[in-house]
Amino acid sequence: VSLKNFNTFGIDAYARYFVEIAHESELVELFADPQWQQIERLVLGGGSNLLLVSNFEGLVIRMNIRGIEHRISHNDVFVEAGGGEVWNDLVKFCVAREYAGIENLSLIPGSVGASPIQNIGAYGVELKDAFLSCRAFEIATSTFKTFTKADCKFGYRESVFKNELRGLYIIVSVKFQLSLTPDINTQYGAIGQELANRGITMPTIKDVSDVVSHIRVSKLPDPSTIGNAGSFFKNPLISVEEFGVLQAKFPDVVNYPGGDGLVKLAAGWLIEQCGWKGKVVGNTGTWKNQALVLVNNGGATGAEVYSFSSQIIDSVYTKFGVMLQREVNIIS
Ligand code: EPU
Repeated sequence: VSLKNFNTFGIDAYARYFVEIAHESELVELFADPQWQQIERLVLGGGSNLLLVSNFEGLVIRMNIRGIEHRISHNDVFVEAGGGEVWNDLVKFCVAREYAGIENLSLIPGSVGASPIQNIGAYGVELKDAFLSCRAFEIATSTFKTFTKADCKFGYRESVFKNELRGLYIIVSVKFQLSLTPDINTQYGAIGQELANRGITMPTIKDVSDVVSHIRVSKLPDPSTIGNAGSFFKNPLISVEEFGVLQAKFPDVVNYPGGDGLVKLAAGWLIEQCGWKGKVVGNTGTWKNQALVLVNNGGATGAEVYSFSSQIIDSVYTKFGVMLQREVNIIS
């Protein structure tokens, strides 16, 4: 089965076996056959955060469990969505009903079920800020388990599902705690600026959603026309001491507080300073408006994108002594 239409990078790699899951019970049925317990597996949501470096010789499980339920209690809104829902459809559902909490996460590609895995985040908000719990299928026991926020051990683009529990669970639904009294978050500079441009002084969550969508469209390539997986690398976190040394040499280095005595650097800036912004190399390259995004300009192979990303890592390391880490999942 070609996975070309199942990954936003548009890489034409093949999967040996492919199954689509629309109901929880289908997971139980699937794993009742021991052959699927042993084989290598790849669980796919929107396919928006991975790079297929080669064909996949195992089983691809595409999650398509749908449904959004909501319950209001005083000022709180509890929303539970099937893992196969498109993330931005859930955002639109909530914004339309004025359920506040995820409007800053408008237009992030991918599925609801994938959102906790890397604790998606943008424009001053992370998934964990609105997350209540998720339900996941434990492959080894064929049972379902609920993970609270604490269980998930969320960090910057991190969770327990990327680390100690990697590959052991399949998220089937996610529960959010939203609010009828919005706590509008416009701390991210570009949001405030765009609201001001529009003459909006008392933004609604619809305004925030519109502005975030506008900023994303202007900065990031649309995966339906130019293959990409969003930010290819994480913004590196370094110690305050290392940062002091770096800033002495590069006074303009773009940085943010990283928490816990750490400083977060803008990987896009580091990459741009190395001369990579908007570069086209074979069928791949970086995006002209955002150097942190690697693109498939048509016909790129995963191996080509991967080796290009290695070149970027080497060059940033040589110039700044900072080692970039890939944010997308590399499947090989
Ligand atoms: N910058 C440059 N050159 C570039 C790109 C960025 O100099 O080509 C500098 C600029 O100073 C800019 C700063 O970096 O002000 C930050 O750039 P931007 O606001 O575009 O955000 P980012 O740090 O590059 C992160 C997330 C994005 C998220 C935005 C907005 C990561 C890895 N990426 O990018 O998330 O949308 O912030 O909050 O944390 C994703 O994860 O796929 C993603 C797109």
